[in-house]
Parts: sequence; structure tokens; C-alpha cells
Amino acid sequence: MLSKTIEEALNKQVNRELYSSYLYLGMSAWFETQNLKGFAGWMMVQSGEERNHAMKIYEYIIARQGKVSLGEIEAPKAKWTSAGKVFEEVYAHEQKVTGMIDALVDLAVKEKDHATFEMLQWFVKEQVEEEANAATICEKIKTVGDIPGHLFYLDHELSKRK
Ligand code: FEO
Repeated sequence: MLSKTIEEALNKQVNRELYSSYLYLGMSAWFETQNLKGFAGWMMVQSGEERNHAMKIYEYIIARQGKVSLGEIEAPKAKWTSAGKVFEEVYAHEQKVTGMIDALVDLAVKEKDHATFEMLQWFVKEQVEEEANAATICEKIKTVGDIPGHLFYLDHELSKRK
């Protein structure tokens, strides 16, 4: 059984993961308007991963006989000025999410909830990967130049993500 404090915090994180999914879906749609199909596909896969993150927590709440409460999902912005700016935002967003996961781990320790602590370790590791992926793509964009004509090779590389 989950404590009310943990249940509330986990439900909030479900919402934040769904917001991440929505944000990346919006970015995917923006890349479509730039004719960068590989970037758009990469973002679409990322959006799906974020939904999976939300579902992992959702299923955990249910497994612990908690109650899932779904709230409103904030609308993400719809326009960016360049691919580089999008990925800088992804990197900043993932760092913010890492902070949220760390805060949840601290809360699990404070509440002496070992099962939640254990479940969150998957997210701790995942955030290392999430930040690294975003940072790597930011660097690649800087290297080739943040203008559409220079991004086609990278677009092709990102299109390989399944
Ligand atoms: Fe669910 Fe990208 O962290």
C-alpha cells in the first residue's frame, strides 16, 4: 500500500511524463513542417518512450493498490526557430526531469518506501541516458551548423532510430 504522500507524488510524475510525451510530439510535428523527417521520426519515438515512462509509474501505482488520478496535460509550445534550439530545450527539459526523479527518490527515502525507491532506480539510470542523448545531438548540430541545409546527413542518421 502506498502512502498518500507517495501516491500523490507519483501521480504528479505520471502527468509530467505525459507532458514530456506531448512536448516531444509537438516537436515532431514542428520538424515535419521543416521537412526534417528524420528529426521528426526521432521525436516521435521519444514521445512514445515518454508515454512508456508514464505507464511504468501508472502500473506501479496500481500494483501497490494505489489510485491513479489523471490531471490536465499542459499544452506545449508549437514553434521553434531552429533544430538546435529544439534540442537545447530537450536537454534542459531532461535535466529538469532528472531533478524531479531525484526529488522522488529523496521522498521515497524520507517515507521509508523501499519498493518505490527500487522502482525509481530504473528512472535514475534512464535519465543518464536521456540527458546524454540530448547533449550528443546538441553537439552534433553545433558541429555541422544549425541551418537546415547542413542538417540532412544528421536527419538521415536520426531517421534510423526505431
Ligand atoms: Fe521520461 Fe525523458 O524522461
